[in-house]
Amino acid sequence: MLEKLRERSSQKELMDDFQGTEDELKIVLDDINRVNRLLGGNGITIDSVAHLIKKNPQKSYTILDVGCADGHMLRALATFFRKKRVKMEFIGLDLNTDALNIARKASINFPEIRYVAKDVLELKATDLPCDILISTLMTHHFTNEQLPRLLHQFARLPKIGFVNNDLHRSGLALILFKLFRFFFIRTPTAKIDGAISIKRGFKKRELKNFADRLPIVQHYIKWKWAFRYVWIMEPKRPNANE
Ligand SMILES: C[S@@+](CC[C@H](N)C(=O)[O-])C[C@H]1O[C@@H](n2cnc3c(N)ncnc32)[C@H](O)[C@@H]1O
Repeated sequence: MLEKLRERSSQKELMDDFQGTEDELKIVLDDINRVNRLLGGNGITIDSVAHLIKKNPQKSYTILDVGCADGHMLRALATFFRKKRVKMEFIGLDLNTDALNIARKASINFPEIRYVAKDVLELKATDLPCDILISTLMTHHFTNEQLPRLLHQFARLPKIGFVNNDLHRSGLALILFKLFRFFFIRTPTAKIDGAISIKRGFKKRELKNFADRLPIVQHYIKWKWAFRYVWIMEPKRPNANE
């Protein structure tokens, strides 16, 4: 039977308190990345960043990925924008130093990407100036009480805007995921966390409520296959010509 999943779950993911080695973490992250690739999750963020860039022409851009883990999204963006010949610098920010070690090793051929170990909530606007801030599968790790502070940071840090790509909480998504994990997911951690992540995901009205609490930004929230919401925020900053 379809679960309604009316409220966001407060169950913790195993990855929130991962006790394994760096090698074990890499195996789980590779598993999660494969799922995202297969289900098209990365393309949503790439298209949204491309949209913001087209709208805001500049000579070069700095992209900040908050909760970058092993940096797979940054490498996907770097590869895409190299082909488009757009000059870009990338910063990956994460609390988890093991994940950042994996990210640095995997990004050896990407000199345009650097990694910083820091809590995003501690970041001052001048610490890591960026044009576009992205976050993927990160906000669902935060409770409804913690989210306003995180989103306030997301709204004030980037010059051009912010792209958040996270999960739609839906009973149908949960059933399809359970079928999918049987065939495509190898590690028990990714199997368990995938289901918890969906239960911690969002309904559109919840994202709109969070958006309404950030009056200085304009929002665009859209459902995307497979059970994602992309949320683009653009700060309404005073224009020098106005
Ligand atoms: C599920 S992972 C998402 C990884 C990646 N963005 C992806 O799409 O697969 C969430 C990441 O956010 C990081 N994170 C959680 N809270 C953070 C904070 N306050 N500041 C920086 N990173 C944080 C975690 O360490 C973890 O690597």
